[in-house]
Amino acid sequence: MKIVFLSVLLWASVLCLDFNYHDNSRLEQFLQNMSSIYPNLTKLYSIGKSVENRDLWVIAIGGNPDRHETLRPHVKYIGNMHGNEVVSREVLLHLVDYYLTSYGNNDTITSFLNNTVVHIMPSMNPDGFSQATVGDCNGIVGRSNKNGYDLNRNFPDYFAVNPAPIQPETAAVMNWTQQYRFVLSANLHGGTLVANYPFDNYPNANGIPKYVTCPDDDTFISLSKTYSYKHSNMSSGSHCGDRFPEGITNGALWYPVTGGMQDWNYMQAGCMEITLEISCCKYPAASTLPDFWSANKQALVDYLMRVHSGVKGIIYDQEGKVVPAATLKIKGRELVSFRSSNYGEYWRVLVPGAYVLQVFNGVNSTEKSFVVTNGQVTRLDIRSWQPIISAGTSLNQPYIPILPVLLIACYHLMYILFF
Ligand SMILES: *[C@@H]1O[C@H](CO)[C@@H](O)[C@H](O)[C@H]1NC(C)=O
Ligand SMILES: *[C@@H]1O[C@H](CO)[C@@H](O)[C@H](O)[C@H]1NC(C)=O
Ligand SMILES: *[C@@H]1O[C@H](CO)[C@@H](O)[C@H](O)[C@H]1NC(C)=O
Ligand SMILES: *[C@@H]1O[C@H](CO)[C@@H](O)[C@H](O)[C@H]1NC(C)=O
Ligand SMILES: *[C@@H]1O[C@H](CO)[C@@H](O)[C@H](O)[C@H]1NC(C)=O
Ligand SMILES: *[C@@H]1O[C@H](CO)[C@@H](O)[C@H](O)[C@H]1NC(C)=O
Ligand SMILES: [Zn+2]
Repeated sequence: MKIVFLSVLLWASVLCLDFNYHDNSRLEQFLQNMSSIYPNLTKLYSIGKSVENRDLWVIAIGGNPDRHETLRPHVKYIGNMHGNEVVSREVLLHLVDYYLTSYGNNDTITSFLNNTVVHIMPSMNPDGFSQATVGDCNGIVGRSNKNGYDLNRNFPDYFAVNPAPIQPETAAVMNWTQQYRFVLSANLHGGTLVANYPFDNYPNANGIPKYVTCPDDDTFISLSKTYSYKHSNMSSGSHCGDRFPEGITNGALWYPVTGGMQDWNYMQAGCMEITLEISCCKYPAASTLPDFWSANKQALVDYLMRVHSGVKGIIYDQEGKVVPAATLKIKGRELVSFRSSNYGEYWRVLVPGAYVLQVFNGVNSTEKSFVVTNGQVTRLDIRSWQPIISAGTSLNQPYIPILPVLLIACYHLMYILFF
């Protein structure tokens, strides 16, 4: 009797995630506890090390998350990319707790986790976090990584040359993102309340804000509104002294950014990503954490469910073999391509409408039209009538500023001719 009582107590102390900040070692301990309690629903892994040699932990959640199940998409959340923006760390730990304790008790969550693998990285910048202090609402201590680089300015940029050397945290996220072929994701920040979507930059932006429409503008607006309207009050749009109609903004319209993670995901990894700002104060008192969890809970859950809207299918060649790494585009959105997985699977989030999928083999493209209806995912397999050649490693060619290149070439030519 006593033993039963004690083990129930122990069980409860492990299961009940409190509302306190977890430092890096307690964060790791919590993830390890959860993965040992739910071995069949989790896979805990590190994608690499920070500058100060801390593990960059990810917990994958889903029914046997390591097993390949045909057409089961992978999605992700990354928190605490700026080490001093900390609310996301705790909110994501509560999301881990919510998913795992709801599996088997809530049919919506259970079937979602049966059909999706959710990868959660509560902290992309554990070194920065260790420098930050509670109560510092607007500061920058701990924002960058240990080498002083802002990780959300550290990715290769589609529109501009990014001179910053790629940091270990960035390299780890890039390798990881390409390895899993994530379909949908978000990265979480603090400092205001808004859902921010691509593009974040444009050629020669010089810090001048303007709306930069990406080919999937309609989809991104819809995804961002899913978050802002499911959030307790983000959609009202007036928070923290800022004004964002409906709680959403185009990234470059807010302010242009070179080297941001969301544009890199979208252009270079075939993953639709938005950036979420979820607290006015970057490092608020721990007593505010329950409110942040309840404000974001439904938004976090429902946003990822959007991965099951749009189109998905398998690409076969003319011999009936699946085609990995085929280059795919949606007609009219040709600037952006995405790839089939190692099993020939593809997924693309789209709003309702009529579309044409293009499958490229370098010379020809196979096209097939389809319709997406509200809240549904359309199954569209491609059986090619001609060989499809898998593409190389580069997904979308970077934007090449033709005029400057020509000017520089002219200058060099003149120099050679006249001096
Ligand atoms: C992890 O589990 C142990 C007991 O196995 C418990 O003492 C500890 O508080 C837990 N840590 C966290 C952060 O949940
Ligand atoms: C959990 O995983 C183990 C090892 O892979 C397996 O033997 C067991 O059947 C699984 N249990 C369930 C309920 O899926
Ligand atoms: C089950 O989970 C869904 C999604 O989070 C939620 O909307 C619903 O209220 C939950 N149902 C119960 C009975 O808790
Ligand atoms: C989820 O998968 C498990 C194991 O395959 C199955 O027993 C269960 O019925 C599924 N639940 C739902 C709601 O899909
Ligand atoms: C709504 O947002 C503000 C930030 O502007 C926050 O301080 C407040 O607590 C929120 N209210 C509710 C009910 O979530
Ligand atoms: C492209 O299509 C043409 C006409 O259907 C065909 O003759 C040619 O072999 C195709 N080329 C490749 C590389 O598939
Ligand atoms: Zn930030």
